This record gives sequence, C-alpha cells and structure tokens, in this order.
Amino acid sequence: MSVENAKRGRFITIEGTEGVGKSTNVAYVKARIEAAGIELVLTREPGGTALAEQIRSMILEPREEAIAVDTELLLVFAARAQHIKQVIKPALERGAWVLSDRFTDATYAYQGFGRGIDTARIEQLESFVQGDLRPDLTLLLDAPVDIGLARASARGALDRIEQEKHCFFEKVREGYHHQLAKEPQRFALINAEKSLQAVEQQVSDVVQSRLGI
Ligand code: TMP
Repeated sequence: MSVENAKRGRFITIEGTEGVGKSTNVAYVKARIEAAGIELVLTREPGGTALAEQIRSMILEPREEAIAVDTELLLVFAARAQHIKQVIKPALERGAWVLSDRFTDATYAYQGFGRGIDTARIEQLESFVQGDLRPDLTLLLDAPVDIGLARASARGALDRIEQEKHCFFEKVREGYHHQLAKEPQRFALINAEKSLQAVEQQVSDVVQSRLGI
C-alpha cells in the first residue's frame, strides 16, 4: 500500500469459522479502540460498501444454480476491491484505524482449503487486488467446528455457505491454522471454546500487548 507515512492507521482483522463469537469480540475490540480516543472504521467482508454488500448477498443467498468455485472466488475479490478503494484505504490514509470482520485469510480458508482452490491462484488475486495492503494484526478465534455450527444453527436460517457439511468447516479451520503457521507474527490465536469472560480476557491481553491500548 502506498501509505507509508507515520500517520497511517492500523488495520486489524478478526477471523474464524462459523459461530466462534466474532460479533461479540468485534464489539469488544471496537470499544477498546474508541476508548483510547482513536477514530475507528468498523467494517466487514464480504461487504463494507453498498455495492460490496450486494455482492455479499449474491455470495450468501441460497440459490438453485450452483455457484462455480471460481465464480465464488472472483465475487469475493470483486467485493474486496470495492471495499479497499472506497473504505479501507481512505481510512488508513487519514490515520483512522480499520477493524474488519473477516478479510483475505477467509478466502485462503474457505475458497482455498474449503473449496480446494490452489493457494497460488489466491495469492495472484491478493497481489492484484490489494497491492501490498495486508492486515497489521489478525485475531483468529478458534473453536471446534461442532460448537460453532451449533451456535450458528441456533441463530436461525443458514446462508449458502453455512449450509455446507461438517467436513467443509474442518477444512476451513485447517486453512486458518495454515495461515497462522505461515505468518505467526501477524496472528493472535484466541481459544474461543472457553467462557465468554475467558475469551474476552485473551482478547484484552492481545489488544494491550499488540496495539498498546
Ligand atoms: P459472516 O461474516 O457473517 O461469518 O459471513 C461471511 C461468510 O462468507 C462466511 O461463511 C465466510 C464467507 N467468506 C468466504 O467464503 N470468503 C471470504 O473471503 C470471506 C471474506 C468470507
């Protein structure tokens, strides 16, 4: 990314399989950043702009026509291109921090490991769409697939991806661990199987040690 001045804001992402408690922890991190008096842009993927949210619906709405895996991959990156141009880059350039509920690690996990798309092809799209924009910190909420899927089902109707089978999410979880092993310095692994309070304590420690707030 061409924002190399000292004022560039921090780019933080939160990742994990379905039902690991992302929303609760996103809200907690947001509150911590804002309490430190820092301007924060809270956003999510796929989505984050009107057009990108439309693409999100195209990806997640259950439909009769099967979506080809390459189509799904390109839709995810089309939404991301719009999100970066309209929201993420301008915010970081003016010194605001950006907290995104999912980003490209989800593509490696879901489209790469889950759907079986070759990682090298995702890397090509990542460079094409993002240049050198990468998150500064990624919180990976990790819990056994069964626990997360039970929580997701309890929330109501399942979207097109949530309707996938158990083994798909096992591969997705493995994909996230692969990303973590590739870049351990960028990630913070959070054990999301614990009580809400214990998870929040882990997140709090990470926010303090990695973000200094
Ligand atoms: P969620 O943010 O509400 O969990 O839903 C987003 C869904 O989209 C989730 O099932 C993961 C999926 N997804 C991908 O498959 N690839 C991606 O690159 C992103 C950002 C999300």
